[in-house]
Amino acid sequence: MSRAPETRDRPRGSFRPKAPGKPAGLPPIPGLAARRAATDLIGRVLDNGRPLDLELDAMAAQGAFRGLEPRDRALVRALVGTTLRRLGQIDHALSRLIDKPLPEKAARARAILRIGAAQLLFMDVPDHAAVSLAVDLAGEDRLGRPWKGLINGVLRGLARRRDEILQSQDPVRLNTPDWLLVRWIVAYGAERAQAIATMHAAEPTLDLSVKSDPAGWAQRLDGIVLPTGTVRRTAGGAVEQLDGFEDGAWWVQDAAAALPARLLGDVAGKRVADLCAAPGGKTAALALAGAKVTAVDISADRLKRLTQNLDRLKLTGVETVVADLMAWDPAEPYDAVLLDAPCSATGTIRRHPDVAYLKDEADVAALAATQAAILGRAAGWVKAGGTLVYCTCSLEPEEGEAQIAAFLAAHPDYRRRPIEAEEIGGLAECITADGDMRTLPCHLAAEDLRLGGLDGFFAARLVRVA
Ligand SMILES: C[S@@+](CC[C@H](N)C(=O)[O-])C[C@H]1O[C@@H](n2cnc3c(N)ncnc32)[C@H](O)[C@@H]1O
Repeated sequence: MSRAPETRDRPRGSFRPKAPGKPAGLPPIPGLAARRAATDLIGRVLDNGRPLDLELDAMAAQGAFRGLEPRDRALVRALVGTTLRRLGQIDHALSRLIDKPLPEKAARARAILRIGAAQLLFMDVPDHAAVSLAVDLAGEDRLGRPWKGLINGVLRGLARRRDEILQSQDPVRLNTPDWLLVRWIVAYGAERAQAIATMHAAEPTLDLSVKSDPAGWAQRLDGIVLPTGTVRRTAGGAVEQLDGFEDGAWWVQDAAAALPARLLGDVAGKRVADLCAAPGGKTAALALAGAKVTAVDISADRLKRLTQNLDRLKLTGVETVVADLMAWDPAEPYDAVLLDAPCSATGTIRRHPDVAYLKDEADVAALAATQAAILGRAAGWVKAGGTLVYCTCSLEPEEGEAQIAAFLAAHPDYRRRPIEAEEIGGLAECITADGDMRTLPCHLAAEDLRLGGLDGFFAARLVRVA
C-alpha cells in the first residue's frame, strides 16, 4: 500500500522539549501542539464516546486551538480523521508490536500510539518526527510518562516493519467494525459492502448546494457540477473563506442530502413542515423554492444555527419551532411534510468516521423505534392529497425500507408515489424496485476516492389519499 500524501509536516529541527524545571522561554516544538490536540480528540471520541464535531466545537470554544496556525488546525483534522478511518489497521499493526494489551489506565499512551501510527503508516510525515513528537507528548504528563519507553520502541519498530505489516492487512475488513460489515453484506451483498467500506478510507471534498448558476460557481470554486446539480469542489479549504460564503450564494450539503427536499415537487406558496430540521440544509432548499416553511427541531442550539444559516443565505419565509415531535401538534395540517428523522447516520461515515465507533446495533433498534413513532405522528399532519417525504442518512434497512413497509401496512390512507430517476439527476442506480431512493457511498464513484461517492440516504415519497 502506498502512503497517501495527506499532509506534510515540518521537520522537527533541533528543539528540545520543555522539561519541568527548565528555564521558560524555549521555543515551542513545531508540530507538538497539533499532536496534543489530536491525541486529546481521539481520547474523547474513542474512550469517552463523544461525537468528533461536538468535541471540535467544544475545544474551539475553550480556546484549545488558539495559537494554532490554520495549517496546524488542518493537520489536527487530518491526524484525527486518518486515525479514525484507519483505526482497525492501526490497532492491528500496534498489536503486532506490543506483547500484551495495554491496561485501561494506559488510555493516554494508547491515544498517543494511535496518532503516531497513523502518521507512520498513512501520512507523509518523516518517521523521526512522528516518533519523537509522540515521545515528547508522552513526557508531558504523568499519564503518558511511564509509557515513554514503550511508545518509543513500538513506533520505531513500526517504522521498520511498516511495509511487511501493511502488506499483511485487509484494510476494509480491519477498518470496518464487524457488526456494520455483516449488516451491509446482508443488505447489499458482499461486493457492494466492500465498495461502501472502501469509500470510507478518504475524506471527501466539499459539496455545495448553490442558489443559482451551478456552472458559474463550479468554475469560481474549482469544482464540477454533478448530475444532480450539486457543485463538488475538487479541493478542501476553509468554508468561510470561499468565494460566495459571506454573500450567501451557497450552503454546504452532501449531494445526496440535497435530494429529499426536491421530492416534494413544486412547493412554491405551499405550507410545508420540515420536521427534524436543524441545521437546516433541507429547510434552505424549501425556502429557496418558495415554500412557507415551519422548521421544527428539538434542539434550540441547532435551530439557532439553522436561523444563522438562513440569515446568511438571505432566505425568508421560515418559522422555527423548538419542540419534541413526540409532544408537539400543529394547529392545522400541511400541504407537505418532510421528515428527516434522527438515525444512526451510518450513511455519513465518509464525512464522519467517528460514527462507525460511536453507534452500535442497539442504537439502530432504538432509533428505528423513534422513527416509527415520529413518522406515525407526522402522518396525521398532512392534508388529504398532500405529500409526506420520509428520509434518513442511514444505510440500515430498519431505518429505511423496513420502516416504510411497516408504515404502509399500518396506514391505508397512504400510498407510495414512486420516485423517478429524472427527479434525482437521472441516477437510476439510486432508485429501488419499490420506487424509493437509496443512495450508497459507492454511487457516483470516481478514481480519486475523495471526488466520488454520496452519503448513504434513504427517502420514500408517500401521498395521503382522500
Ligand atoms: C438528521 S438531523 C436533521 C438534519 C436536517 N434536516 C438538515 O437537513 O440539515 C436530525 C435532527 O432531528 C432532531 N431531533 C431528534 N429527535 C427529535 C424529536 N423528538 N423532536 C424534534 N426533533 C428531533 C435533532 O435535533 C436533529 O437536529
